[in-house]
Amino acid sequence: MAHLLHIDSSARTEGSASRRLSAAYVDAWKNDDPHGTVTYRDLTLDTPAFVSPEWITGVFGPAEAADAATEAAVAASERLIREMEEADVLVLGVPMYNFGVPAAFKAWIDQVMMAGRTFAFGEDGPEGLLKGKRAVVLRASGSDFDDPAMAPMDFHAPYVRGVLGWMGITDVEIIAVNGYTPEQLDSSVRGAGNAISASLGTPARAA
Ligand SMILES: Cc1cc2nc3c(=O)[nH]c(=O)nc-3n(C[C@H](O)[C@H](O)[C@H](O)COP(=O)(O)O)c2cc1C
Repeated sequence: MAHLLHIDSSARTEGSASRRLSAAYVDAWKNDDPHGTVTYRDLTLDTPAFVSPEWITGVFGPAEAADAATEAAVAASERLIREMEEADVLVLGVPMYNFGVPAAFKAWIDQVMMAGRTFAFGEDGPEGLLKGKRAVVLRASGSDFDDPAMAPMDFHAPYVRGVLGWMGITDVEIIAVNGYTPEQLDSSVRGAGNAISASLGTPARAA
């Protein structure tokens, strides 16, 4: 039975294009696999802690400095890492903020990028430990980054692909919508229904 981890990170809890798209994706996935299970995490309503002195001590040592606070900091990371390990598919709603990802999403990445857990340095160099998973990123932005004039400012897609790939998730698809006005964005979101269907290999449907 397949398991999906659904994450949203838009600061908008209403009217968010990335939330609408990620929900449409998960609905279509469940329709395709009614026995599939889903874990949902909202990084805006339940934002991971920033990396702290306690987290750094807990992860990197020294062991003799460990205490209840360092253990709690590492345990919080461990919960998020386990959610990734348990998932076959990650569906990530990630808007573009200031040409990168929202701070809440970055906080999540900082919690799950852990040497020895999600990546390791082996004899052949760095190795991602979360192999065999697929990630679909539903991204919303104001500008169109397929426009060659805007493309050099797209630090979102390379960052997301880079960090997921570093952890071993190399099968990453980004479905992007954009628009400066609510009408433009809405039209772009509706058009993304075909991309979702193509991603799942199911008949076309509206997002
Ligand atoms: C704080 C903030 C920063 C933003 N920065 C960018 C940006 O750098 N480039 C861009 O094209 N759009 C930017 N936008 C527009 C959002 O990407 C756009 O409104 C998108 O639809 C937000 O996702 P959501 O609809 O899921 O909330 C920004 C919006 C906010 C609120």
